[in-house]
Amino acid sequence: MTDPRLAVVVLAAGQGTRMRSSRPKVLHSLAGRSLIGHVLATASELSPQHVLAVVRHEREAVVATITELMPHATIVDQDEVPGTGRAVEQAIAALPGDFDGDVVVVSGDVPLLDASTLRTLVDEHRVAAAAATLLSAVMDDATGYGRVIRGTEGTVDRIVEQADAAPDELLVSEVNSGTYVFRVQPLRAQLSRVTSHNAQGEKYLTDVVALLRTAGETVAALPVSDGWRVAGVNDRVQLADAARRMNDLIVRRWQLAGVTVDDPASTWIDADVTLAEDVHLLPDVQLKGATKVERGATIGPDSTLVDTEVGADATVKRTDATLAVIGARASVGPWSYLRPGTYLGADGKIGAFVETKNSRIGKSSKVPHLSYIGDTEIGDHTNIGAGAITANYDDVAKHRTSIGSHVHSGSHTVFVAPVTVGDGAKTGAGAVVRKDVPPGALAVSVAPQRNIEGWVQANRAGTDAAAAADGASV
Ligand code: UD1
Ligand code: CA
Repeated sequence: MTDPRLAVVVLAAGQGTRMRSSRPKVLHSLAGRSLIGHVLATASELSPQHVLAVVRHEREAVVATITELMPHATIVDQDEVPGTGRAVEQAIAALPGDFDGDVVVVSGDVPLLDASTLRTLVDEHRVAAAAATLLSAVMDDATGYGRVIRGTEGTVDRIVEQADAAPDELLVSEVNSGTYVFRVQPLRAQLSRVTSHNAQGEKYLTDVVALLRTAGETVAALPVSDGWRVAGVNDRVQLADAARRMNDLIVRRWQLAGVTVDDPASTWIDADVTLAEDVHLLPDVQLKGATKVERGATIGPDSTLVDTEVGADATVKRTDATLAVIGARASVGPWSYLRPGTYLGADGKIGAFVETKNSRIGKSSKVPHLSYIGDTEIGDHTNIGAGAITANYDDVAKHRTSIGSHVHSGSHTVFVAPVTVGDGAKTGAGAVVRKDVPPGALAVSVAPQRNIEGWVQANRAGTDAAAAADGASV
């Protein structure tokens, strides 16, 4: 249910220089989602009436991502006045004039913050009837953060930025996480009084805290127990740290949901993956995008599945698959490469050193060894012999191969597309199939074999082969 008294402001106008990247910081990804994608997903769990995103640097790319993920979000363009205070001031100016609720402020570069922490923040803020409640954290190393300065009775008096802090203030280990909830009216009133008279020449949102206190308002701080929950991503070291944390959370969630994970440290699961009970993940597995694995399937070791569906009780070993569908009880690998559009039916097999693309392989059909199957339709209960190739490309266009059900192709058959092989047909070893094969026919294209007796002894006299041939009992 939408909370009509709640708005969320996502700050995403900053430059992100420390990433040293041509990509805007909030578009770097973690567990298959952009940093801002995680923040927007968390924001929407609060069911706010309004979500506003403040943008400026790399505006077009950032806006494209936001509107794709959350079409109803309001985009707010920050002007040339720098600072988090200015960003929030402009965001709340974009709220409807009659909005009289609470404003949650989050940063687009804090991906691990979860909805239940935010929910608690909003609840405590409302129960205390505070003008502002900030999420704080006690950090072993507070470098870079604003410090929370409390009064003698423990009240939050102000926040001082690192750059402006006195030596004794730098010793404070309770920091401002950059996540807050404010009552909109006192926030609006005090933001208009914030100046840029500080070490960074910016309008600090954090200055609102002291102004609210001077105005006699209540400001509360809720400390989080895990500092990493509110850690920002400012460089690639922090990006990898956050990715590790996020992955630990995701792996743990699936373990508790009934998935066996042999080696959590080498198992990487994107946020949008779905796994059923009794899925078994062996070491060195990456499950990416919208991959979905059904009950009882075993994945790994050493497999990467992107946007791939795996049916119940299937086995996928040492495989690289993208946009593929693997049927129930099917077997894939080791060393298989399933490219987009591969569909393998129930009880089917794609085996060692087989590459497939844009192909449908029917139920109980097998491509067990050393093959390339592209732009192909294979029926049910068909067996493709070792080394078969579908020659789908004639330098100009791709063509389709159609192979029926209960077909047996001999080893090393080349299907030269476009070509159709009927149900129950067979091909001889090494056949080059250029013409359609009717149902039940045997296609052979290799010349009959001739044995030239005594050729080795006549032409290779004195070799080990000749001696072996002479000594052989006929
Ligand atoms: C801010 C807080 C600091 C806190 C820290 C937590 C202020 C003044 N300081 O510092 O107390 O400990 O976060 O991580 O708020 N942004 C804009 N417009 C701007 C500037 C920033 O939208 O003009 C956005 C950034 O994109 C980022 C967020 O605001 O998402 C925080 O900005 P950043 O510059 O990283 O603030 P810090 O210096 O880390
Ligand atoms: Ca920051």
